[in-house]
Amino acid sequence: MKKFLVIGNPIQHSLSPKLHNYWFKKNNIDAIYEKKLIDEKDINGIISEIRKNEIQGINITVPFKKTILKFVDVLSDEAKESQSVNTLYKSDDKIIGHNTDISGFELSLRNIKYNVNKKKVLILGAGGVVPSIVVALKKMEPLKVILSNRTQAKAEKIKETFKEVEIVKWGEIPDFDLIINATSVGLKNNDDLNLDYEKIGKNKYFYDVIYNPKETNFLKKGKIYGHATTNGKMMFIYQAHQSFTIWHKIMPKIDNDVIKLIDND
Ligand code: ATR
Repeated sequence: MKKFLVIGNPIQHSLSPKLHNYWFKKNNIDAIYEKKLIDEKDINGIISEIRKNEIQGINITVPFKKTILKFVDVLSDEAKESQSVNTLYKSDDKIIGHNTDISGFELSLRNIKYNVNKKKVLILGAGGVVPSIVVALKKMEPLKVILSNRTQAKAEKIKETFKEVEIVKWGEIPDFDLIINATSVGLKNNDDLNLDYEKIGKNKYFYDVIYNPKETNFLKKGKIYGHATTNGKMMFIYQAHQSFTIWHKIMPKIDNDVIKLIDND
């Protein structure tokens, strides 16, 4: 039986096992996908399990998407550009580090038919997923990408890699068309970013990378003020879909049952 893992810290919230195990069943694949809470010191051991074929593939989540770079033999172009890896596998005796968050985000925008071209995008946060979002956005040629993070130094760090990104102070609301919550605020039900919603204007798009809970306060307030909203569910499903396709050379179905599976949590 093949074995797959998602590693991170915290990891309890991850729905990756649920989704991958569902697709295993649907596609008659003899495999198991588990979540594992790890510390950085555990990474070496886990990598050697891939080398020994004891594990066939790994997803990486917060806070190790960057840490993992130095443990792999080959980085895909996407992983290099974003300096972020969420998918590991072995090919020709080499450990490959790849990034499927980039295409996951891009496909999620296509799914809602949102055209970023010439739009102003404001990203809140500077955590692990932000470089992937910036890489995906760049391909779609927005007018500008603005970054705002509570700890400004972390936003500045991202700007070192992506010079075209503009930075505004935390709490400032520049003019934008699309706002993306990429902070962890909202994971707990009563978390609130306390944005100045009155200042935001009309007909914007509110995108939250969080999908569990389904509707964060950020999205609830966005709705109240009449903006379009979407959560991170489709980004999550698409990134998993890409990892699955790489590992098993099978494209699993994304249908209403899959979407419900993720919604139900
Ligand atoms: P990591 O930073 O380890 O990659 P993450 O979950 O990907 O973890 O990122 C958390 C993001 O949420 C960060 O941008 C963080 O801001 P800081 O860099 O200032 O820590 C942001 N965040 C977390 N709690 C927040 C809060 N109460 N208000 C505003 N931003 C918050």
